[in-house]
Amino acid sequence: MIQEKSQSSIEEHVGETHFGYRQVPLEEKKKLVGQVFSSVAENYDLMNDLMSLGIHRYWKRRAIEVLDLPQNNTTRILDLAGGTGDLSLLLADKVKIGSQIVLADINYEMVSVGRTQRIDQGYNLPIDYTIANAEQLPYPDNYFDRVIIGFGLRNVTDKQQALDEMFRVLSSHGKILILEFSQVQNQPLSKVYDWYSFSVLPFLGKIIADDADSYQYLAESIRKHPNQKTLLSMLQHSGFQQCHYENFLQGMVAIHLGVKG
Ligand SMILES: C[S@@+](CC[C@H](N)C(=O)[O-])C[C@H]1O[C@@H](n2cnc3c(N)ncnc32)[C@H](O)[C@@H]1O
Repeated sequence: MIQEKSQSSIEEHVGETHFGYRQVPLEEKKKLVGQVFSSVAENYDLMNDLMSLGIHRYWKRRAIEVLDLPQNNTTRILDLAGGTGDLSLLLADKVKIGSQIVLADINYEMVSVGRTQRIDQGYNLPIDYTIANAEQLPYPDNYFDRVIIGFGLRNVTDKQQALDEMFRVLSSHGKILILEFSQVQNQPLSKVYDWYSFSVLPFLGKIIADDADSYQYLAESIRKHPNQKTLLSMLQHSGFQQCHYENFLQGMVAIHLGVKG
């Protein structure tokens, strides 16, 4: 059965927020999201490939292209909510020697699984791994040339505060890129996507990772995430200029970009 609810069907109450379709106390969401990612960490990369039929790799490569990396050896890049490090790996391939890549994520298991895999695969990457909350970044003002956040913002409790933080740590003329699930713009496709999200994803989660609930959360959290236009205005609200977005697969996923003027 498709358990679809419209964004407006759930009221937000003071002191509460949404965790998927559930209303939870604000302070509880971080813990619940933490449980999801601790639970999926071991199978995260495999599930990404299965769920998207590998297409997430294309979106990630495209994101790095659009990020327009400076080509000098002093570039500093933050891969926020970097998880198991797919984007950092692509970044490491594109930056000049001497550049600094910082992967920051709130979840120790996600970072640790990714870092161990890279070491086992024989990589020696110029990546600094940090455990940090996107809402309170432990970096000075104007520090990074680029901030990228891939499939992470959706999970953050206070998204506007996280965007404000990304603005703060970016240098003047620095760029932010958000790669995230978004709102499908095509009605027939949206019906198929709902069926896939609420039936196939939890089923895959159950048989591959013995964890249907985390993939049910994934489907719900996508529906609760601000759509393309709302996210664009949130970027502007944080102070970003030249804000625009690019849709993939009719808006299933979008890249949002902004510049700190
Ligand atoms: C779906 S994964 C994305 C990982 C990686 N960026 C990718 O594209 O494959 C979402 C990540 O966001 C992290 N996350 C959730 N809330 C966060 C927060 N408040 N601050 C930093 N990271 C957070 C999770 O721990 C998880 O690793």
